[in-house]
Amino acid sequence: MANAVQPASMENREFPMSDHNFNMIAQIAYQYTGIKLPEQKRQMIYSRIARRIRALSLTDFDQYCALISDSNNAEFNEFVNSITTNLTSFFRENHHFEYLESTIIPELKKSNASHRKIRVWSAGCSTGEEPYSIAMTLLKSFGMKSMWDLKILATDLDSNVVETGRAGIYKPDRVNDLDPNVIKKWFELNETTANYEMVNEVRKLIRFNRLNLLDAWPIKNKFDVIFCRNVVIYFDKKTQKKLFDRYANQLNDGGYLIIGHSESLHKLTDRFESIGKTVYRKMV
Ligand SMILES: C[S@@+](CC[C@H](N)C(=O)[O-])C[C@H]1O[C@@H](n2cnc3c(N)ncnc32)[C@H](O)[C@@H]1O
Repeated sequence: MANAVQPASMENREFPMSDHNFNMIAQIAYQYTGIKLPEQKRQMIYSRIARRIRALSLTDFDQYCALISDSNNAEFNEFVNSITTNLTSFFRENHHFEYLESTIIPELKKSNASHRKIRVWSAGCSTGEEPYSIAMTLLKSFGMKSMWDLKILATDLDSNVVETGRAGIYKPDRVNDLDPNVIKKWFELNETTANYEMVNEVRKLIRFNRLNLLDAWPIKNKFDVIFCRNVVIYFDKKTQKKLFDRYANQLNDGGYLIIGHSESLHKLTDRFESIGKTVYRKMV
């Protein structure tokens, strides 16, 4: 075991994690997902991987690292799922949904009037609250009986969150802070489970798929709007640069890119103009 010195907080843990183990986990994570795991994440990685070691009845981090050094190993997907951070909520950073309703949708109603289609991508959708918030906003503007073809692609690297999003069933604490009228209109309370289920009209707009943003994208169409919020914050500048360039290629001219509150395109791409708080438009 190389450099097995543990920081004070890591001493006497159930499974010792050497520097070598941590560096290997961080390197595999970066190569496969783009997610950077700096030293400050050591504690978090310890607890998440220790859970996997227990679940597999392994004895130490060396055994676990041997498993994930083969990306075809059945554990690899669980490893990837365990390193993602999936924090999200309905109408998170609500100013984006207000902007979608007040400015983007009216613009698209004009520019797309000849074909009446709108395509939105929620890239890094986590458990689905973001794409469902987009769907509710679209339906609020277009109504239930509109002739427009509205579609949202929702993708994430983590297969567990994609499944949760697809199920569209949320515990009361995920929904409680919403306006009661929103809950009444777009959710059905399951009296048996006490969970809230998205109504079919909203579900119908969204297709959920697992997709690693670092891989090739099997996506034929271009989008009018891409939401990629609070995802690139985990990537380094080199990965962000490549990704923003690919987003520009995947957007229609004049299409919109919406990013998270602590993210920026500054010095990373000149293919977008800033048109609002973390809202950008692809330049023609
Ligand atoms: C903090 S959540 C953001 C969820 C949502 N966009 C929001 O802002 O509320 C970040 C998501 O990015 C996903 N993610 C991280 N790396 C990814 C990658 N390489 N490809 C696709 N998704 C990735 C994670 O699995 C996670 O669900």
